[in-house]
Amino acid sequence: MQTDLRGRDSIAPELEWTRDEIDTLLDVAWDLKRKRAVGEPHAYLRDKVLGLLFFFTSTRTRASFESGMAQLGGHAMFIDSETTQISHGDTAKEIGEIIGRYTDGIAIRQCDWNFGNQYIREVAAASRVPVLNMQCDIFHPFQILADMMTIQEKFGRDLRGKTINVSYAYASSYQKPLSVPQSLILLMTRYGMNVRLTHPPEFGLMPDIVEQARENARQSRGSFEVLHDFDEGFKGADIVYPKSWGCWMTTEDKDESSKLGKKYTDWITDSRRMALANPDAVYMHCLPADRNIEVTDEVIDGPQSIVYDEAENRLHVQKAAMALTMRS
Ligand code: CP
Repeated sequence: MQTDLRGRDSIAPELEWTRDEIDTLLDVAWDLKRKRAVGEPHAYLRDKVLGLLFFFTSTRTRASFESGMAQLGGHAMFIDSETTQISHGDTAKEIGEIIGRYTDGIAIRQCDWNFGNQYIREVAAASRVPVLNMQCDIFHPFQILADMMTIQEKFGRDLRGKTINVSYAYASSYQKPLSVPQSLILLMTRYGMNVRLTHPPEFGLMPDIVEQARENARQSRGSFEVLHDFDEGFKGADIVYPKSWGCWMTTEDKDESSKLGKKYTDWITDSRRMALANPDAVYMHCLPADRNIEVTDEVIDGPQSIVYDEAENRLHVQKAAMALTMRS
């Protein structure tokens, strides 16, 4: 157990924290989940303030950070980039310097391609308090930590030999970030799992992230493979995680990406596809999902779906991160 995380940023813990540090966070998350279940007070951050800076919409992330901070005895302050002077030129350095003097932590969602992660790191460099990444263009750490917690609840702490299929699925709504699949392949390969990344050729991830996942799998004695056949990805999998993402590595043009996506409208998770996976396989999705486009109602509302447990565990892993990094 690693107990000295006070003041640490969590911008990409799936890449930058040790396995020991991640396991500590998960241990604390389970303890906090138990405490909440039995009504045991756990106001570890009394009088502390977390700034929540959003450049992009959110349901789960905002609600779980605000609830979590209240349950820890502190306050979460919502800051909308559009309705503050950020929209008129406050810089990342100014935000880090100034908001860092008002608060005990700054959480940021900035998903703009080729910019979001850099922005969060610039705020962190200027801030005297820890910075938490609520999703950027490259990483979505708290989603994936919640996913790991959920997977371990279903399959046990030792995940060696379990197969997860991280797959592209078609969606019509918008060109989504690469952050969820990238953080997934980075973290799951550190736990000795057999990790499959399945996507059409135009929907690849960042090459250095894929290379790191391959290296993680080598070091953890798991495996990592890339497939381009949607059905093949489901075969024999224990965990299926098909979700949409944009073809950012091929084009940043909205119309072109929409045209490319339309080639793959049959990449929808339905009961026939689920039947290709292991009989006790679970269906995961970070949400929001494009219902009956990415996944049928029958699957997402069916017995194999664990999407609500995933969403709940956002609360517990984020409370753990806040308690560990923002304590006095
Ligand atoms: N999964 C997730 O991050 O949800 P929100 O976009 O609603 O925060």
